[in-house]
Amino acid sequence: MPDAPQPVFPKRIFSGIQPSGGLTLGNYLGALKRFVEAQDNGIETVYCIVDLHAITVWQEPAKLRHATRELAAGFIAAGIDPARSILFNQSQVPAHAELAWIFNCVARMGWLRRMTQFKDKAGKHAEEASVGLFAYPNLMAADILAYHATHVPVGEDQKQHLELTRDIAIKFNHDYGVNFFPVVEPVIEGAATRVMSLRDGTKKMSKSDPSDQSRINLTDDSDTIAQKFRKARTDPEPLPETLDGLAERPEARNLVNIYAALGDTTPEAVIAQFGGQGFGTFKPALADLAVAKLSPINAEMSRLMQDVAEIDRILGDGAERAHAIAEPVLRDTREIVGLIRSRR
Ligand code: TYM
Repeated sequence: MPDAPQPVFPKRIFSGIQPSGGLTLGNYLGALKRFVEAQDNGIETVYCIVDLHAITVWQEPAKLRHATRELAAGFIAAGIDPARSILFNQSQVPAHAELAWIFNCVARMGWLRRMTQFKDKAGKHAEEASVGLFAYPNLMAADILAYHATHVPVGEDQKQHLELTRDIAIKFNHDYGVNFFPVVEPVIEGAATRVMSLRDGTKKMSKSDPSDQSRINLTDDSDTIAQKFRKARTDPEPLPETLDGLAERPEARNLVNIYAALGDTTPEAVIAQFGGQGFGTFKPALADLAVAKLSPINAEMSRLMQDVAEIDRILGDGAERAHAIAEPVLRDTREIVGLIRSRR
C-alpha cells in the first residue's frame, strides 16, 4: 500500500547549540547568525541550549551552569529576541528525554554505528564512551520532533544527524501506521556552512580543538581576533582572480568564505574585490570586518552576564512556552505507542 500523504505541518524552525565551552566563529556563522535571520523573517523559531547533549561527555557542574548562561547571553547578544523566539535550556522540558527514550526503541543499532561524529568523538576509546554519546542522535531527533519542527538550520557537520532524524520519523510513522512526525528539512545554507580551523584548512573549526589559535571565540577581544587572523595559516600566493583558483587552497578558501559570511556577501564578490591582492592586505581587512561585527556581540554578552538572574528568568519563560508545544505532542505519542496515562 502506498504511504498516505504527509499532513501539512506549519513551518516551524528548531535548532540547538551545546553549552560545552564557548561559542566559536563557526557556531556563529554556521548557526547563530542564521537563527537570527530566520527569526527576522517572521517564521516561528524555537532555539534550545542542549545541556543534556553536553553531559554526554564529562562537564564540571559549575562550568556547565556558567556555559549555559553564557550561551544564552550569546544568543541574545547576537540578536535572538526572547519575546519573538523561544529560547530555553533543554533539561527544563522533560519531553526531550522522554521522547528520546521512545526513539531509542525506534532507531536501529546499525544506524547509530554509522554516525561519523560518534566515531570522531569516541575515537579509539569507544568502549569507555558514555552510552549517552552513542545514543545522542536519538535525543537530537527528539529535540526536533517534540516540536513537530519542519526546518532545522545547522552547519554541515550536523547533516548526518538530520538524516537520522528523518529516518526515525519515517520508521515511527511506518511502524505505527500514522503520519504523525514530519520528515524534517535540513537547512544548510550560506558561505560558512563549514568554517575551518585557522591552523589547518582541512579541519573544522571546533571548540574542542586543543589549540586556541585554531579558532575565534565570541569572547575574544579585538586584539586577539586581529592577532589570530594575522597568524592564520595561508599559502604564499595572492588571492586568485576567480573562485576556481581557490579549489586546491583550503586555507585561502576558508578566509574568503568567512569574509563573505561576516560581510553578508558572496565569495564571488570577495574575490572580485580582493583577487590579485596578497594576504598582507586581505588579512587586516578580514580582521577589521570581524572585529566590527563581533565586538558589539562580545560587549553585549559581558553586559548580559552581569545579571544571571535575568538570564535564568528568560530561560524559564522560554521553557514554559516550549513545554506548552511539546507536551501535547508527547501526549499523542504515548497514545500512539500504547502507553497508558491514567494519573491525574
Ligand atoms: P554544536 O553545539 O556542535 O554546534 C552548534 C551549531 O554550530 C554549527 N557549527 C558549525 N558551523 C559551521 N562551521 C563550523 N566550524 C561549525 N561548528 C559548529 C553546528 O553545525 C550546529 O548547527 N548536535 C548539535 C546540537 C543539537 C541540535 C539539536 C542541532 C542538539 N539537538 C537539534 C539542531 C537540532 C551540536 O552538537 O551542535
